[in-house]
Amino acid sequence: MNRWLIKGAQIMGGKRADVLIEDDVIAQVGTQISAQGATVIDADGLVMLPGLVDLHTHLREPGREDAQTVEVGSKAAALGGYTAVCAMANTDPVADTAGVVEQVHSLGETTGYVDVQPIGAVTTGLKGTQLAELGAMATSAAKVTIFSDDGHCVSDANLMRRALEYVKAFDGIIAQHAEEPTLTHGAQLHEGVMSAKLGLVGWPAVAEEAIIARDALLAGHVNSRLHVCHVSTAGSVEILRWAKRKGWKVTAEVCPHHLLLTDESAQGYDPVYKVNPPLRTASDVEALKQGLVDGVIDVVATDHAPHTTEDKECEWAAARPGMLGLQTALPIVIKTMLEPGLLDWDDVALRCSKRPAQIAGLRRHGHDPAPNAPANITLVDPAGSWQVGADAIFGPSKNTPYAGMTLPGVVQTTFLNGRPTVLDAQLTEGI
Ligand code: DOR
Ligand code: ZN
Repeated sequence: MNRWLIKGAQIMGGKRADVLIEDDVIAQVGTQISAQGATVIDADGLVMLPGLVDLHTHLREPGREDAQTVEVGSKAAALGGYTAVCAMANTDPVADTAGVVEQVHSLGETTGYVDVQPIGAVTTGLKGTQLAELGAMATSAAKVTIFSDDGHCVSDANLMRRALEYVKAFDGIIAQHAEEPTLTHGAQLHEGVMSAKLGLVGWPAVAEEAIIARDALLAGHVNSRLHVCHVSTAGSVEILRWAKRKGWKVTAEVCPHHLLLTDESAQGYDPVYKVNPPLRTASDVEALKQGLVDGVIDVVATDHAPHTTEDKECEWAAARPGMLGLQTALPIVIKTMLEPGLLDWDDVALRCSKRPAQIAGLRRHGHDPAPNAPANITLVDPAGSWQVGADAIFGPSKNTPYAGMTLPGVVQTTFLNGRPTVLDAQLTEGI
């Protein structure tokens, strides 16, 4: 039998306990559990969380394996403490058919570092004109429940309404990249003082807010589930607050980079800071943090977006938008939310694991470490820190905006279905 005894971990940052894993479940949680036949992990000083779940990962396979494969992205996810990721549909070919989502799903299963849950495209080829085969993807072996044209906005209001209506039949979700395209032609950076100073075309907050307001109204009108990707402005938080008060089925995510960085970072025209939606202002950052505290924003999602050096290290306007996120998400949440006392570990577990698992319907993830729970867990050293550099970042793409920073929180070990996918903690054999 596969048996592991994790000794003395602080469960969700609280009480210390021993946790016995047998096969793919947690068999016991307590003190003085027998180590018979188990490999023992000394988790003194480590915090145990349910394995993290990411609702927004760009894995890039099929099509851009030069930036990242499913295998490499899954490994980066495990290193970041994740046990499940939802893979965005903007691959090449686009994940708009049962065939492509099944391919991504089976690549995830073969690789085995994290559970890979494919997201299906809303429209064929992400073109925004015709609904994709939503039903066929939902009933495929990949069991798709979330649909998104991320990278593009489903800007046609009637098509958005039809998509929301269609997925209701199987309790699906439309995850919207909120960007009114007629307001962002050629946009490069948040529209404000900085874009004016740098002479870059501005991406106004209203382009995001207008779509969120419209989609919330549509979701309320047809009583279906809307998820808002990468919320980035204070105005968006206000609109979401209103939509939730109405009782509509609207959920939202914020990305770590929008909790830490501002448009001031673009000062030196380094495209590593180019992302869509763009980095905003310090007051937006404050509103996003408050939204995450209040629960107006449900979850943290990475929008992990690997790009090759050729696609990223060029002039600002030509560079692709997007930044890496899987290995740095938890450290950024610790730095921006936990250390200032805005969230505690229970709150972090809710926003980085339990709520995302609930939203995506990933039943084996997001459980408190307790008897009979699936053994999907992560062990973090909260007192540890690490310097972000090319060596520490796994995979061929190195577009992290945190290079050179020292970040708190070191993921020591991640377990997927009772097996370690990352194992850096101290080991001793059981008796
Ligand atoms: O910055 C971004 N990068 N935003 C998106 O919506 C898409 C993503 C990508 O695919 O690179
Ligand atoms: Zn997006």
